[in-house]
Amino acid sequence: MTAQLRVSYLFPLLLASFMQTNPMAEKVKMDCYKDVKGTIFDYEAITINGSENIQFTRYMGKHVLFVNVATYCGLTAQYPELNALQEELKPSGLVVLGFPCNQFGKQEPGDNKEILPGIKYVRPGGGFVPNFQLFEKGDVNGDKEQSIFTFLKQSCPHPSEILASFRYISWEPIKVHDVRWNFEKFLVGPNGVPVMRWSHRATVSTVKSDILEYLKQFKTK
Ligand SMILES: *[C@@H]1O[C@H](CO)[C@@H](O)[C@H](O)[C@H]1NC(C)=O
Repeated sequence: MTAQLRVSYLFPLLLASFMQTNPMAEKVKMDCYKDVKGTIFDYEAITINGSENIQFTRYMGKHVLFVNVATYCGLTAQYPELNALQEELKPSGLVVLGFPCNQFGKQEPGDNKEILPGIKYVRPGGGFVPNFQLFEKGDVNGDKEQSIFTFLKQSCPHPSEILASFRYISWEPIKVHDVRWNFEKFLVGPNGVPVMRWSHRATVSTVKSDILEYLKQFKTK
């Protein structure tokens, strides 16, 4: 009787701790709002080599995946996976864009000139070269956030309730829709309107299967 009682008390506790620590229990993807005003075509960004200011009108008709990247993150291993995704879905019109950012655990400490050599020789290393466009390092949250990120964040709720740990962040003001970590992703449709958003906990293979599912609607046309 007492043993039974103990087990019945323990079980919900075990379940609760399992749900907190198991990332699979957390939502990793959210659809964007249906009433978004504006498009990414109102924005632009400077390439990482500083020589070109790219107007996002260039991506009209494409499916654009915005990723905030960092070189010294555990998730930097996603770089080769992102290359593969870009390569595989290029025929379907996917364009991956990378935005280096130092706001999450200070994991992108180098300046613009140091970022490409960092990913080439250190992490992921082995001569790695991204096959997608990287832009200048900049903020995605807070007072100095890039306006394209203000737009993307306003357009889509974040899948995670957890905002951040003060140990790792220092931007202000902290907002509900803020990017939580490196390698979060936003997908934007061919009309320039954001479609969905993933947290850093979504693997590239999850993101890929979500994109493939989303692309089905364009194949029938
Ligand atoms: C800078 O980057 C752009 C876009 O990737 C490229 O077209 C251009 O050739 C580069 N310029 C230099 C000087 O490397």
